[in-house]
Amino acid sequence: MAKKKLAARICIDRDFTIGAVDERIYGSFIEHLGRAVYEGIYQPGNPNADQDGFRKDVMELIREIGVPIVRYPGGNFVSGFNWEDSVGPVKDRPRRLELAWNVVETNQFGLNEFMDWCGRVETKPMMAVNLGTRTEDAARNLVEYCNIEKGTYYSDLRRSHGVEKPHNIKLWCLGNEMDGPWQIGHKTAQEYGLLASRAGKVMKLVDSSIECVACGSSSLTMPSFGEWERTVLELSYETTDYLSLHQYYGNRDDNTPDFLANSVAMDQFITQVLSVCDYVKAVKRSKKTINLSFDEWNVWYHSNEQDQKLEKWVEHPHQLEDIYNFEDALLVGSMLITLLRHADRVKIACLAQLVNVIAPIMTSDSGAWRQTIFYPYMQACKYGRGNVLNTIVQSPTYESSHGDAPYVDAVVLTDEEAEELTLFAVNKNLKDDVEVTCDLRQYAGYRVLSHSVLTHEDLKAVNTEEQPDNVKPESGDKLSNIADGILNTSLPARSWNVIRLGK
Ligand code: AHR
Repeated sequence: MAKKKLAARICIDRDFTIGAVDERIYGSFIEHLGRAVYEGIYQPGNPNADQDGFRKDVMELIREIGVPIVRYPGGNFVSGFNWEDSVGPVKDRPRRLELAWNVVETNQFGLNEFMDWCGRVETKPMMAVNLGTRTEDAARNLVEYCNIEKGTYYSDLRRSHGVEKPHNIKLWCLGNEMDGPWQIGHKTAQEYGLLASRAGKVMKLVDSSIECVACGSSSLTMPSFGEWERTVLELSYETTDYLSLHQYYGNRDDNTPDFLANSVAMDQFITQVLSVCDYVKAVKRSKKTINLSFDEWNVWYHSNEQDQKLEKWVEHPHQLEDIYNFEDALLVGSMLITLLRHADRVKIACLAQLVNVIAPIMTSDSGAWRQTIFYPYMQACKYGRGNVLNTIVQSPTYESSHGDAPYVDAVVLTDEEAEELTLFAVNKNLKDDVEVTCDLRQYAGYRVLSHSVLTHEDLKAVNTEEQPDNVKPESGDKLSNIADGILNTSLPARSWNVIRLGK
């Protein structure tokens, strides 16, 4: 039977931009959790590790993505963490009961090792402070340790640890998910708002060049959502620069169309948080705008059941090791498009996480490989630069639990200097291709440079160490052409597409 022809239209105008992409929206996250640090980025003695214990194969894959920032050291972990445990001679560092994830933390890898690693993978840190069991005092000492050159107690302590130059860490998270009852030191919005304000204030007194991210809600479904954001911002507006959002999605009912519609829910979440930020701005008659840091987002559900069975108080167990399938990659692509469509206000975002723990990169003792979600993340990071154009997508829709969801999600970016356009598009129709047109007459002389397609006949297909290339992008160059100034492109059923245009 012939396939049905579905059609969509994308409208752009060269002069109508949403905003410049802040490269930090392609950030990621390394938490002291499971095998993210130990056996993930750090494994002394492993044949793939360098002389300092850093996994070379993993560093190579991270460089392939070009991850601009990495949030560290948590996550739930940070709310019980004493940063002082993780610096100084390794042999003197304490083994601690780690109460967020019920394991033992050896502190063999700590702050200075992380900063060293950041330099090697050419990324920047997004450091989180503990506002669960600790207060502004520990936070300001940490900023002093990291950012002051010399001549004070904590800067000289760093130097005595062999790190002469300050780390100059510019981006700081004021705690993690403080609205969540599971969080060590969970607080009410009132308690947290006051603490975030005090912490941000003293941290900026130590170094006025830093930026602070206050905790928003741990998900859209939190009962305190909305009120939490309002209260926290009302109390900490002066010292807060960004408000965080966290959200994970899963296909628990094995309903793929509904699962793929979660990007609509993500879009609604962003819009609603922005409304609260702007409400507080109005009430305060403030000139300052609070932007967003979507510093945990991903698919997370495959490993939940397995993780219930974990033994307690062991070191770096296999925890949160979701094996991502092809449909997960489609949603990740769609979520990246959603973030880009909010480029004017979403300035930071972190795919949670980076290695082994709900991650695009997996390791074993013998190697490292790319999960399915690696590809949309890497391609967005690589090609999603420049300015986001206001991209109007006229697409057939389907019903979902989040309302009408378009089959085609898309966004166009322009790099005027390089004279290039990039179109990211997902076709969520599981059976039919969608024929898309886009009027490009403002871009005379542009041609199709490449069309990359990620698709697979099996929605549940995965990549493994034995079969690392089962799901990977292929050339779809024959699917796109420009005729009489109109881009005609065919988006295969169930596909993530990157179409690059230029002269
Ligand atoms: O990323 C895994 C966990 O998810 C983080 O530790 C926590 O912040 C969130 O609940």
